[in-house]
Amino acid sequence: MSALFPKSASKTMVSLAEVRSHNSTLKNLAPGLVAVFVGGTSGISLYTAQEFARNTTSPHIYLIGRNETEAERIQKELKTINSSSTIDFIKKDVSLLRKVDEACKEIKEKEKKINLLFMTIGAMTFKGRTETEEGLDRKFALHYYARMRFIQNLAPLLTAAATDADPKASLSRVVSVYDPFIGKDKQPNFDDLSLKNNFSLGTCAAHASAMQNFALERFARLYPQTSFIHEQPGAVETGLAKSWALKPLYFLLRPLMVGKKESGERHLFASTAPRYAPRSKAEEKGVVVGADGVQGSGHYHLSYSGEADGESKISAELRKDRAEEKIWNHTEEVYKKVCDENGKY
Ligand SMILES: NC(=O)c1ccc[n+]([C@@H]2O[C@H](COP(=O)([O-])OP(=O)(O)OC[C@H]3O[C@@H](n4cnc5c(N)ncnc54)[C@H](OP(=O)(O)O)[C@@H]3O)[C@@H](O)[C@H]2O)c1
Repeated sequence: MSALFPKSASKTMVSLAEVRSHNSTLKNLAPGLVAVFVGGTSGISLYTAQEFARNTTSPHIYLIGRNETEAERIQKELKTINSSSTIDFIKKDVSLLRKVDEACKEIKEKEKKINLLFMTIGAMTFKGRTETEEGLDRKFALHYYARMRFIQNLAPLLTAAATDADPKASLSRVVSVYDPFIGKDKQPNFDDLSLKNNFSLGTCAAHASAMQNFALERFARLYPQTSFIHEQPGAVETGLAKSWALKPLYFLLRPLMVGKKESGERHLFASTAPRYAPRSKAEEKGVVVGADGVQGSGHYHLSYSGEADGESKISAELRKDRAEEKIWNHTEEVYKKVCDENGKY
């Protein structure tokens, strides 16, 4: 539940005026930026896609989700916001990793580069472990395994964008909206990383957060021209708030909530601001501290207001204990069984 509450705003938070001022400069970037919104049919991805369409020139936007009716409505809405935009909808249930691969294949057939991979897929359920035909819990798959598979598949296209000869076309960024902070203070269960036998809502949230933190750190090292952001969005009115179980909580939180437009604007800032530079640009002016405590290390843990959080004591200890390697070996094993061998983990 801690995922719903904004990490406290501090003096280093980015003001909305600064966000708006930066976003208004995005029209100076090259036309034709390509953005993929995984979960673009609702909530934070949708609000961000609206701002991306509003502030860029001739963008190509991909929306990935299951709800075709909503997607059709959104396609029209985005065209109204920016008539020069191109919007494609890819209908897939991406709680299945083999469907993630199909979605990525579709994109790769059309695109040579991607500037932004923005991911918010998730499921609000209080049910226990709900196994997919691939042998993973559905919620955990959406929050971790599917997101990392999107990155793994699309990283070459993100690098291609970063190396564009035109610096105005070289934005290359991954933003995963979940919550980096839950996992920073918790030790994952390395004997059961997929939580086959130790699943609870708490362990699922802690694993999805911590495993994502370390996986993004690995991607930032492997792909130094792309920046990787794991962000906590604060409490935002989205599809999540419509769930019967959370409605009363969101009602109480109303005064503290981040508005839909502000959420979209802030996430567009997180998706484009030079302060969250890739590792290859660590030395540039104003670049913030990475999640490992090193300035410009290319992977950032952000609060809803854009404040970058550095190293935690537990993460530092886990890093020394080769957490990244253990987590990634496990993730590769899952991908091998499910995607390469068409099996079940
Ligand atoms: N909103 C908040 O207050 C809040 C607070 C803290 C953290 N978060 C985190 O932020 C993230 C985004 O949440 P949100 O509030 O924007 O959620 P949302 O409005 O419920 O949107 C979730 C999106 O994911 C897509 N999706 C869900 N299951 C899918 C599946 N199996 N296959 C394909 N697409 C699927 C949905 O599309 P379809 O319905 O079309 O499939 C929808 O577009 C989540 O990880 C959430 O945990 C949110």
